[in-house]
Amino acid sequence: MRRVILESPARGSIYASMPVARERMPGVARATREIREKIMPDPTEVPELDTDPHPLATIAGIGAFEGRSVTLRGWLYNLREGGKLLFPIFRDGTGTIQGVAHVKSVPAEVFESLKGLTQESSVVVQGRVRADKRAPGGYELDVENIEVVHRVPETDPFPISLKEHGVDFLMEHRHLWVRTPRQSAILRIRAEIMRAAAEYFDMNGFIRTDPPILTPAACEGTSTLFPVDYFGDPAFLTQSGQLYVESTALALGKVYSFGPTFRAEKSKTRRHLTEFWMIEPEVAFMDLDGLLVLAENFLSHIVQSVLKNRAPELVTIGRDAAKLETIKPPFPRLRYDEAAEMLNQAHKDGHLEAPFEYGNDFGSPDETWLSSQYDRPLMVHRYPAEVKAFYMEPDPKDPRYALCVDVLAPEGYGEIIGGSQRVSSYELLKSRIEKHNLPLEAFQWYLDLRRYGSVPHSGFGMGIERMVAWVCGLDHVRETIPFARTLHRIYP
Ligand code: 4AD
Ligand code: MG
Repeated sequence: MRRVILESPARGSIYASMPVARERMPGVARATREIREKIMPDPTEVPELDTDPHPLATIAGIGAFEGRSVTLRGWLYNLREGGKLLFPIFRDGTGTIQGVAHVKSVPAEVFESLKGLTQESSVVVQGRVRADKRAPGGYELDVENIEVVHRVPETDPFPISLKEHGVDFLMEHRHLWVRTPRQSAILRIRAEIMRAAAEYFDMNGFIRTDPPILTPAACEGTSTLFPVDYFGDPAFLTQSGQLYVESTALALGKVYSFGPTFRAEKSKTRRHLTEFWMIEPEVAFMDLDGLLVLAENFLSHIVQSVLKNRAPELVTIGRDAAKLETIKPPFPRLRYDEAAEMLNQAHKDGHLEAPFEYGNDFGSPDETWLSSQYDRPLMVHRYPAEVKAFYMEPDPKDPRYALCVDVLAPEGYGEIIGGSQRVSSYELLKSRIEKHNLPLEAFQWYLDLRRYGSVPHSGFGMGIERMVAWVCGLDHVRETIPFARTLHRIYP
């Protein structure tokens, strides 16, 4: 293997002294060499010897080191012992790998340190990488050396053993539960969803503008506000950045916000958190039709990115990827009235227990039934204006309906996006604020957006946790965020 010779001596020395950077070197070296050989083959270049006998590697990237000895840093996930043979499973945050240590093939002190080693003890391991078709990741590690960084004492073992635990117990130990392969895989998929979501907007000319978290007024109804004492004045944690991104959209054209939002939801459902992350695009001069196209392209980009970049994690959690492969535009669109009709018919045909009450939001069984009719997200638009938020533009063709959309995820995962075209008339918005008993003073700045160069504009909010629940196939949002906040939980 050749060393990459970096142009700048300063950078070269930094890389040489940084073990973490070095683990990426084989790929970089190969790519650099290939490019260099293409443009200027140099027959005089002498291959350098790699002098590090145990380069640092990650489990996810261990394939590049097949046949070589490497150093892994991580934790003992499990240990099977068979007399002369030990089968430790190591994890390092990027994956797990099984090691093999035979009493005759490792030094006696290495065998002794590994024998009886406790779950979640931290270790630095050296071993030779061997391809094995039966291994889940395709490789095993023939252990050569081990340094135990911290040994978990037998008297106070890691609380989450490999047997089944109740959800309450696991949530109480969430700070440790996140170490398990399934939970780590979910968090990796969550990170990819967030990355791909931001990437979609960044690639498409949107500017990220961050709204405040401390706000003087409600955006999504007064019943779910978290009050804060703001130096003696009442304030609230934000329920949505929407009103503020409307302002920056009229300044910058296409914007989005991405941050935590809060709802004092007293309901104990599998879809509600009191603190959750929302990504909210807002676009000047966009109407509802444009918003639907934006939503379907955006969601498809995220799902396709997860399929491309997090395939091993989907396998780890047992998610059927075929169910995600169909997620491409166009998505089906239904008016609220058409959806209501489908629900009535389903009730008549005995598929739904309760009849649907026109004018209500869809219940969980209703959403499950509706979404099960399609293989991609369903966009339900034009709800009765009565049941929707004060800022939604009425349909000029029939003002009893709002120019809004709820996107329902397939397989019964429920609403993942809520959005609308916004009221653009000053008079109408003012009367809506009054009708909803909202404090007019707190909304003067928002009304200004309709006083000075008002335009049609639209946006939506996507809840990251609902999206993760669907993409991962989880029946509860509590596992979709590192530390869930719910009605009865604020620890750890
Ligand atoms: O439908 P919602 O309430 O819409 C808004 O907040 C708009 N102001 C957004 C906008 O137009 N910019 O919330 C949007 C999404 C929902 O579809 C759902 O995915 C998620 O946020 N969400 C929640 N997720 C977890 N727990 C809760 N309590 C949630 N409430 C909403
Ligand atoms: Mg909603």
